[in-house]
Formats: sequence, structure tokens, C-alpha cells
Amino acid sequence: EIHFFFPKQHTLAVIKPDAMNQHGETILEEIRGSGFSVTQLKEMVLSREMAEEFYKEHREKPFFSQLVEFMCRGPCMMLVLTKENAVEEWRATMGPSDPDQAKTISPNSLRARFASDILQNSVHGSSNQQHAEEKIRFIFGDICAEVTGDGETDTTS
Ligand code: TYD
Repeated sequence: EIHFFFPKQHTLAVIKPDAMNQHGETILEEIRGSGFSVTQLKEMVLSREMAEEFYKEHREKPFFSQLVEFMCRGPCMMLVLTKENAVEEWRATMGPSDPDQAKTISPNSLRARFASDILQNSVHGSSNQQHAEEKIRFIFGDICAEVTGDGETDTTS
């Protein structure tokens, strides 16, 4: 019998303000049903300053001010998701940023089903492990230093 060891990984997921009222519960069920562990969870309204910091990588983009305004519009659900290959798997579960593209190439994805347009696109997920660690620390603070470490290992046969 051979055992393979896969490291668990953490990612930051956000249910954005557009999806919170109508689809928040469904999205949470999908997350759990897809095998992610919800390691941390917090509902919050981002301040303008926090939203600007959160999306600082996009500061020079033409859509930046709209994006910041949208993210502050109402409550967000902030989540740390834990799974093998969590960063990539959560990106795949979300689908592409643009729902029209999502409907074509990934019709079961969350954005294909719940996004209204490329701005109000229902969910966020870190694009790589470095961003995941940085954003988890930004939202949840040092309280979850253990989830941003090397990750525990899991056995699958
Ligand atoms: P980006 O990091 O490119 O996409 P993703 O969320 O899929 O990682 O962009 C961040 C957010 O900025 C995106 O979720 C929605 C918004 N956005 C726009 O409003 N217009 C755009 O043209 C793009 C590319 C993004």
C-alpha cells in the first residue's frame, strides 16, 4: 500500500457585497461541499482605506475607484479556506473574473452562476500563495499565524 502526502494550503476567499444577500448561504454550502475547510470566517464592512489596501495591486488600473467603492458598499464575508492546493482549487471554483467568459468556459463556476458583471463578480480568491498569506494576515491578523505557516500534511491512500 502506497501513501501519498499532500500539504494543505490556505487561501483567502471573499463573498463580495453583491452576492451577500441573495447567494451567501448557497456559496458557503458550495464551499463546504467542494471539500474546503472554513478555517476562519468573519463578516465585515470594509472601510475605503481597507479596500484600497486590499486591492493595492490594482491601484493604477482604470477600474480601481469603482472597485474600491463596490467593495465598501455592504458587508463582505471573509474566509480562510483550507484544502490541498487550495489557492488553485478556489480559483477554479470561482471561475474567470468576467461572468460572460465564465458562462462559456466554466458554466458550473460560482461566477458563471452568481456574478452580474466583471466588477460585481460575487467572489474573490487570492491569485497565488504569497498573496494568500499576505491577505489572510491583513484581514485576520496574527491570530491565525498558524494557518499561514507551512501547512500541516494529510494522508490519502
Ligand atoms: P483581477 O485580479 O484581475 O481578477 P480576479 O478577481 O479574478 O482575480 O481583478 C480584481 C477585481 O477587479 C475583479 O474581481 C473585478 C475588478 N475588475 C473590474 O472591475 N474590471 C476589470 O476589467 C477587471 C479585469 C477587474
